[in-house]
Amino acid sequence: MPEIKLPITRYYGSKRKLVQKIWDALIEQGLEFNSVLDIFGGTGSFSYFAKKQNKEVIYNDIFNFNHHIGRKLIEQSSNNLTIGEAINLLSPQQGILYRRTITDNFDGIYFTHEENEQIDIFVQNANLLEDENKRLSAYYILYQSCIIKRPYNLFHRNNLSMRTNYSGGGFGNKITWERTFEELFERFINELDEVTFDNGRNNSAVNFSALNCPHTADLVYIDPPYFSTSRSHTTYHAKYHFLEGLANYDEIEQNIDFAKNNREIVINKSSEFEKPQFFLEQLSQLIRQHEDSIIAISYRNKGIPEIDEIAETVRACRPNNRVEVIDLGLYGYALNKSNSSNNEFLIIATNDII
Ligand SMILES: C[S@@+](CC[C@H](N)C(=O)[O-])C[C@H]1O[C@@H](n2cnc3c(N)ncnc32)[C@H](O)[C@@H]1O
Repeated sequence: MPEIKLPITRYYGSKRKLVQKIWDALIEQGLEFNSVLDIFGGTGSFSYFAKKQNKEVIYNDIFNFNHHIGRKLIEQSSNNLTIGEAINLLSPQQGILYRRTITDNFDGIYFTHEENEQIDIFVQNANLLEDENKRLSAYYILYQSCIIKRPYNLFHRNNLSMRTNYSGGGFGNKITWERTFEELFERFINELDEVTFDNGRNNSAVNFSALNCPHTADLVYIDPPYFSTSRSHTTYHAKYHFLEGLANYDEIEQNIDFAKNNREIVINKSSEFEKPQFFLEQLSQLIRQHEDSIIAISYRNKGIPEIDEIAETVRACRPNNRVEVIDLGLYGYALNKSNSSNNEFLIIATNDII
């Protein structure tokens, strides 16, 4: 199989480096499916891979900013936004009175003053784009650039000073953090030009919490948040609330939690699949909602719950189907190079009767 180029991202938990292995494991099981629902879609790496394999793909994620990413990569098939147009979106247009939501409320928190001003202008200009293709490209390049410019690529701490006070030494992402939006936009527009394509199917991206998603498919891929036994859990909302704010720009001001040092934007915050004590119960519910589908669950060992407990839950939901637990070996997330003994697993429930 020719190597598939997947869009590059620094998103936490992305399966970009694992998706080939995941796919190979599904094929080795002899599973047959034409459609795929990627219900915790994130960066869309699984959806994108499935699209490349000519499947009909439904991408889902609870967050609107991810939904924009899913629509760009999975639903749409081209990029109409040029680099010049993208860079122009950073400048105010005549006759428009711009709000200063980020500049006024997030000074010194995530980005520099000048970058905050650029973000304010860019989002409002993007929101005015009538061409949906261009609008989604604009959101895509903004979110990816914001992620890249952040220490640890996250928004759960107000640690801009880590970036601005950096004075050399081992923590060498300074060059990336300091890349201008103009530079990063060029990179991501080029990437969009390269990776967007049409597979001839009617693919879509939707925006529900997993348990409220009314869609299904021949195969449902479940890649939920992971709870490590070795560190405290930070929810996806806490990690990316700022991007969810940008995706809902007009609602930011009334949703800022000023009691928090990092001014959390409380939009689409949910505890579904974000509390370990309810994980198995919610997983059962989800599997039962897709009773006719093949189920494939990604999880890592050394987590809460453990792989065996997840497999038991799947067996309980699917007493008549074959359930396989496949060890995919050491995982290779972009963000976590230190956990050498953690393995990634795929738990599959087929829809053939045993
Ligand atoms: C482990 S990540 C998925 C990563 C994805 N497979 C990829 O390759 O990028 C989990 C995703 O689930 C989303 N999420 C969290 N809670 C959710 C829920 N209740 N329903 C749907 N999506 C949820 C998060 O926004 C996050 O993108």
